[in-house]
Amino acid sequence: MEKIVIVGPASQILGVKIAKELGFESINTEIKKFPDGENYVRINIEDETIVAGKEVIIVQSTGPSANSDQNARLIELFMMIDSVKRMGAEKIIVVAPYLAYARQDKIFRPGESQFGNAIIQLINALGIDELYVVDIHAPSILKDCSCKAINIDSMKLLADYIKLKGMKDIVVVSPDKGAIERAGAFAKHIGENVPVEIIEKERDKITGNIKMEGSLNLKDKDVVISDDIISTGGTMASAIKLAKDSGAKSISVVATHALLLQQAKYRIIKAGADEIIGTDSIDNEASKVSLAKTIADYLK
Ligand code: R5P
Repeated sequence: MEKIVIVGPASQILGVKIAKELGFESINTEIKKFPDGENYVRINIEDETIVAGKEVIIVQSTGPSANSDQNARLIELFMMIDSVKRMGAEKIIVVAPYLAYARQDKIFRPGESQFGNAIIQLINALGIDELYVVDIHAPSILKDCSCKAINIDSMKLLADYIKLKGMKDIVVVSPDKGAIERAGAFAKHIGENVPVEIIEKERDKITGNIKMEGSLNLKDKDVVISDDIISTGGTMASAIKLAKDSGAKSISVVATHALLLQQAKYRIIKAGADEIIGTDSIDNEASKVSLAKTIADYLK
């Protein structure tokens, strides 16, 4: 079956790179907003038979950025799926490295929505054949997809980047008990004996404010703090402060999805980090590690 890649507006670099890795044609999209706020997406083709009968890979991360929010990115994704379906795509594969709302996978207070699960159900209900995400915050929500759903691990790619820095005395720090598994895998990829220190983070269920306490074994170490997401940078800034107070020699922060919203860059660098490292799941200045080859390998 012939295959094509539709490059969503949120993943213009990653989408083209994946298409190049696969050796498939890539097609971009045209977007706008109507005066009433509704989104418009058009796949940039004049002849719909280009899509009919093909395997279509749609690449669209759904993170917020300076020029769009995650709701718009999700709607654009839904519209692209709907569009290729209408044009007769034989198979539809969605690559959404960052899946918005995946952090809303639990009920903390009465009356809340478990929307992470609902997002998976919605994408599934549009009639796709395969879904690929990267280091999704709550892998359990993928069980709500009846089609093939794969969570790709980016820890080796991020570890390879850190290894190139030639640091001698690395300690990986997990800023949250929930991120232990990922931090452990990340440390192992850097080196068999790289230790992991864990911080206990408490988040107020109402205000969202975080509290971190404790002392870590980081004297004169090259500290790499690893998390799945950097949103406002609050978690990282607190973890950096603890690392500095514990005597760290250098501090790098690593996240699969470095959203870097609001004052995140300022907070992280001001707190004392030397570098912010992310993947091209999110297209910004922290996208130093490309997911393209790894994702393409899964799609082959
Ligand atoms: C939450 O559990 C996530 O793993 C991240 O720690 C969190 O999303 C980071 O958010 P922020 O950068 O706003 O502290």
